[in-house]
Amino acid sequence: MYRTKNCGELRIEDVNQEVVLSGWVQRKRDKGGMIWIDLRDRYGLTQLVFEEGKDDDAIIKKLDNIGREFVLKIVGIVIERFSKNPDLPTGDIEIRVKELHILSKSATPPFTIEDNTDGGEDLRMKYRYLDIRRKPVRDKLVLRHKMAQAVRRFLDTQDFIEVETPYLIKSTPEGARDFIVPSRMHTGTFYALPQSPQTFKQLLMVGGIDKYFQIVKCFRDEDLRADRQPEFTQIDCEMSFVTQDEVLTQFEGLVQYLFKEVKGINVNTPFVRMPYTEAMERYGNDKPDLRFGMEIKNISQAAQGKGFQVFDSVEYIGGICANNCAEYTRKQIDELIEFVKRPQIGAKGLVYVKYNSDGSFKSSVDKFFDKDTFNQWAEIIEAKPGDLMLILAGDKNKTLTQLSELRIEMGNRLDLRKPNEFKPLWVTDFPLLEWDDETQRFYAMHHPFTSPKPEDITLMESNPANVRANAYDMVINGVEVGGGSIRIFDTDLQQRMFNLLGFTEDEAKAQFGFLMDAFTYGAPPHGGIAFGFDRLCALFGGTESIRDYIAFPKNNTGRDVMIDAPATVSVEQLKELSLSIYKQTE
Ligand code: AMO
Repeated sequence: MYRTKNCGELRIEDVNQEVVLSGWVQRKRDKGGMIWIDLRDRYGLTQLVFEEGKDDDAIIKKLDNIGREFVLKIVGIVIERFSKNPDLPTGDIEIRVKELHILSKSATPPFTIEDNTDGGEDLRMKYRYLDIRRKPVRDKLVLRHKMAQAVRRFLDTQDFIEVETPYLIKSTPEGARDFIVPSRMHTGTFYALPQSPQTFKQLLMVGGIDKYFQIVKCFRDEDLRADRQPEFTQIDCEMSFVTQDEVLTQFEGLVQYLFKEVKGINVNTPFVRMPYTEAMERYGNDKPDLRFGMEIKNISQAAQGKGFQVFDSVEYIGGICANNCAEYTRKQIDELIEFVKRPQIGAKGLVYVKYNSDGSFKSSVDKFFDKDTFNQWAEIIEAKPGDLMLILAGDKNKTLTQLSELRIEMGNRLDLRKPNEFKPLWVTDFPLLEWDDETQRFYAMHHPFTSPKPEDITLMESNPANVRANAYDMVINGVEVGGGSIRIFDTDLQQRMFNLLGFTEDEAKAQFGFLMDAFTYGAPPHGGIAFGFDRLCALFGGTESIRDYIAFPKNNTGRDVMIDAPATVSVEQLKELSLSIYKQTE
């Protein structure tokens, strides 16, 4: 037998018991005649103690050869510790070892495998299996497991059934590039890996499944960020015979359940529901962080026509109020100016107005505006004496986006984004289409199967940019954790949508004929949502990077540095697939 107990469970009540433990050597300490080993497994650490002269010589001798990360099995007696460690659950006891077996040796690990490690991200990813031995990493995987179990429990009680859908498919448009897989049996043709199971879940609705879910891998070849991986996991869901309101209620119920089960936190339902245009006006962003106010206010009218050329020549002027920041130093203001001028943000400059506690104003544009005007701005921006107004001007959409970044930056600086506070909301009524200047065409803002709002259908051909969709995102603390829509279930309307997206009838048939065909055999009204499971885990765990919650993630260039993928394949493999590598020359 390898163990009768694990390394995390022995307590003072177990003193005098004989136990068998197995685990890894986290640390060995030798203090002249006394030697201690911390033995680690998934459950914790237990201290082993050895004493020269008192313990079997053969065991003491064996210790010389034991280093970090060796795998041991020991038999011993639980004894009370002389100096207890209150920080360790097993800190009251230690094990006097009677038998010691080296089950496996270890090379010197490339970084210390403890909660605080000296290993940088790259090194830890190369040796991810060693990284996973560390408690902080393991805890994140345990959290993910708990979340997945809770999702299944909840959806099962709500009559959802989990159905798997294929990975080798034809392209599903979700806005990214596909990963493609060459077919050997059908030379010159390719499968695509699903960007989501979107069309399959709709077909399941046509199949009468009624309530479907799946915790499923999705694949998207897109630029990576902290919250994006090329392969990631969705909680993918679809329901038949539902209104948008019913879908929102169902899935805010799921998220409420997860908060309660996994974090013991009560979040109130219904969640705030905010139309897209309102989110953009008030927060400059379709995923607003509602943990703090600092809403964006439009001061265009109150700021134009006073002779300040920069303001007079632009479409929009907006500001936010940073409470109690009127005392900001020159250096602090300069940092903010630098911040908004970063290429990723792209503002040309920043106007500040300090509303001093004595009621006076100090600003970068004192020359152009009088006290009355500043008072007017303060009223709109809701600034009080002691506050700082931060103002940006330019093209409306760009400026709103820049103000949104500045708002988040100020939220961070002022510590207003509390990690243990959760403010979920639904953003609704997204535009159906998005215009792309580069290709001069419309794209589906969500995906081509999203239905327009019934009252906007007549605008589809005459004013497509103004058509709103039955689409919604769930946003928590500034993170888009999920998105979905009520679908089109009518072949004609689907064809009109494809037309808007520039597909001819033949092209639409070639790509989505199977779905259009299915709709001719009695399609139920249906809708659904997909949650980014990795993002939800990261949010619950309180860190930004979703990588931490994925056992074997890709790095920020899409590589798995542990298995060294992607990699070349042999000429034989290419031949079998009738492929050759086309090298682009300069
Ligand atoms: P969408 O494309 O909005 O919708 O994706 C749903 C959610 O998945 C997460 N997500 C990602 N997470 C990590 N890495 C990525 N590269 C990544 N891309 C997306 C986000 C997002 O909200 N089929 C539709 C859903 C539907 O309409 O039902 C879809 O996939 O949290």
